[in-house]
Amino acid sequence: MVVLSGSNSRSLAEQLASTLNWQHHPLETRRFPDSEGYIRIPSEVIQAVRSEPVVLVSNTFPDAGIVETLLMLEAINDVRRGNMDNLNQIGPQSMDDVGPGILLAIPYFGYSRQDKRFKPGEAVSAKAIGHLLASRCDGIIVFDLHAPSVLHDLPVPVAFTSAMPELAMHLKEHVDPDFILSPDKGAIERASAVAATIDCEFSYLEKTRIDAHTIVHQAKDLDVDGKIVAIVDDMIATGGTICRAAEALRSQGAIEVHAACSHGLFTGGAIARLIRYVDGVHATSSLSNPRDVISGGPALARGVKDLFERLEWTI
Ligand code: R5P
Repeated sequence: MVVLSGSNSRSLAEQLASTLNWQHHPLETRRFPDSEGYIRIPSEVIQAVRSEPVVLVSNTFPDAGIVETLLMLEAINDVRRGNMDNLNQIGPQSMDDVGPGILLAIPYFGYSRQDKRFKPGEAVSAKAIGHLLASRCDGIIVFDLHAPSVLHDLPVPVAFTSAMPELAMHLKEHVDPDFILSPDKGAIERASAVAATIDCEFSYLEKTRIDAHTIVHQAKDLDVDGKIVAIVDDMIATGGTICRAAEALRSQGAIEVHAACSHGLFTGGAIARLIRYVDGVHATSSLSNPRDVISGGPALARGVKDLFERLEWTI
């Protein structure tokens, strides 16, 4: 079995391949001067792509990641179907169709937060992107998706996996928190799973987002006086959610506050903002980021194994 990657998830693809003990082959990717992308499956990788099922690891973030993912899926489909015709007449022009065998592993699913139509006329972006990708593969693995329900009606099986077990072990070893806080209701399931793994106290806040940069938390008494607290969320973007939650914790006596997430987007100076409020920032390798301290490889591997079982493919 082989793991393939494009330009945005190479190191995580290597982590996945090493967790599964499979080969990893990077595809050729480059940009034309006008910024459009080019992808190609190198000649020496064509046999591997045709001889066994493949897992392509690629983020749909930023926007160029969506196009690159689609182009790579298109090229993999062509190679597996045996559509090799090319203007330079290099190699055989057609081969047998080797059948299904393409899985797409998306560490960070861009557009995941537009998972509902909040006002009439809006596109439900997460669903649109999901359907586009599902039309070119046999199954999808997504890691810590913001709201999994948005992908429930895709025409291919989806494995929802999570890095929370690895995040919990990392926090236990490096922070040893007394208390885990979910900064909003949406992160309760993930954060409470971390608290249960570490065996420590847990609570959550109720958050209202006024706009992309303004967050308000409802006041709540938290039993954090003299305690080390870790705030656990699926993603950190501007850092606003974490900074406001950290203020609430400090004002109630927390002696140390850490922020941990699956997806470290860290937009618009987020790290500089965060380090004024928290003692540590911990993220996974789903996105390339300066706080990548937790490997996403094991979480993706669990998702791959789950899909192989459901599709009755042998590993
Ligand atoms: C929202 O519900 C998410 O789970 C995160 O809490 C949010 O996206 C974080 O964004 P920011 O860092 O910009 O507050």
